[in-house]
Amino acid sequence: MSSRIAVLGLGYVGCVSAACLARLGYRVTGVDRDEFKVRSVNEGRAPFYEPGLDEIVRDTVALGRFDATVSLAEGMAEADIAFICVGTPSEKNGSLGLEQLRRVVGEIEALLPDRDKPPLLAIRSTVFPGTCEEHILRPLERFPGVRVVSNPEFLREGSAVADFMEPSLLVAGSNDAAAAESVASLYRALNVAPCIVSLRAAEMIKYACNAFHAVKIAFANEIGTVCGSLGMDAAEVMATLCADRKLNISSAYLKPGFAFGGSCLPKDLRAFAYRASRLDLKLPLLEATLPSNQEHLRRAIDMLLDLPARRLGVFGLAFKENTDDLRESPVVALLEQLIGKGREVRVFDPHIQLDAIYGSNRNFILQQIPHIGRLLDARLEDTLRWADHLVITQKPDDGIRTQIESSSLPVTCLIGTTLPDAGRLSL
Ligand SMILES: NC(=O)c1ccc[n+]([C@@H]2O[C@H](COP(=O)([O-])OP(=O)(O)OC[C@H]3O[C@@H](n4cnc5c(N)ncnc54)[C@H](O)[C@@H]3O)[C@@H](O)[C@H]2O)c1
Repeated sequence: MSSRIAVLGLGYVGCVSAACLARLGYRVTGVDRDEFKVRSVNEGRAPFYEPGLDEIVRDTVALGRFDATVSLAEGMAEADIAFICVGTPSEKNGSLGLEQLRRVVGEIEALLPDRDKPPLLAIRSTVFPGTCEEHILRPLERFPGVRVVSNPEFLREGSAVADFMEPSLLVAGSNDAAAAESVASLYRALNVAPCIVSLRAAEMIKYACNAFHAVKIAFANEIGTVCGSLGMDAAEVMATLCADRKLNISSAYLKPGFAFGGSCLPKDLRAFAYRASRLDLKLPLLEATLPSNQEHLRRAIDMLLDLPARRLGVFGLAFKENTDDLRESPVVALLEQLIGKGREVRVFDPHIQLDAIYGSNRNFILQQIPHIGRLLDARLEDTLRWADHLVITQKPDDGIRTQIESSSLPVTCLIGTTLPDAGRLSL
């Protein structure tokens, strides 16, 4: 418990973090340009209302573990770690305002020549990936030993103290793993396993979480709106949806990869949006889902068209592994585009033999690509021997994976990886 902590910015995030860190036993000095907030803390009062905060500020100030100052130099004089908690408000154009961050980094820069060892800088403010490198590390690069950790804050106003003490997620990201571990270790008493990640990942996770929460709310509201319009109990529907912990409230479907398809998701989304429109309801989120999927497919096609490859072998024709259902497979749309743009293509799918599929499934593929029979290889080795590049669109089993890996073909894997990084097998 020897760390001395400075917290720069005593707003909602800074004051709650500072007071709670003092409550955990650290010696904390808060710094803010706002004299009211500084005076309020030094008098043992929270500078704003947040349940439970007043008591913690009162107790920790009385114990001599928490004080505040308007002077950054004074606040940082003995700090081993400085948490940056300044505001990053929206600019008029929607971009993030970095003025407060630039200013506080400028003030830190002015202090560093007088320090033997710079304090570890931990940023709790929400900033876009790359900001720490560009706006903290770069301006301070002439000082050896400057290390930055992104330690995003997930508290919610109204339950901020409880959220700090029982965090839903603890993330520490840095280009220096030991620095991330040091920051994470400050929270050891909270008994939550930290996620140690890269600097940019930590910055991004905060955005991904907030976007996910917003999408969840909008989704529930759109489903609820349709329920309401049909005179149904929306709470019953959503509570039942949440009872599925395997596919619904889980990590299922949350891995960036290839576009979705198949005989159900596109069809049912279309039908739902259609029926909602008949009820005079607008569902912008759900209506945007198929266009979003199309856009994702287009990115994959563009990426494949950019490859320096003449003969593209494709592993997987169905919309996912272990099925021979070709209806609305995005791979079929992908093949159509590649063929239309003059690429030579051959396909292997362990579960697709044209003679064996029938009915709407067969009609669909023959309608989309009438000469599909000529493109399908019966054996993977034929595709691997013919192609000069392999595209993977569904998860191969272990045997097939070994076969692919032992071929010398360059591979683009569209699944289980983000598209810009898609490269050699990384499933
Ligand atoms: N409020 C939330 O619920 C919440 C939750 C998670 C993350 N965040 C993020 O945390 C960051 C801070 O949010 P907030 O709501 O606490 O902001 P805030 O505006 O309430 O507080 C920022 C504080 O920083 C002070 N400050 C600015 N420049 C300073 C400087 N150079 N020296 C000293 N003090 C300085 C300001 O006076 C202010 O008191 C933002 O990036 C925000 O997006 C906020």
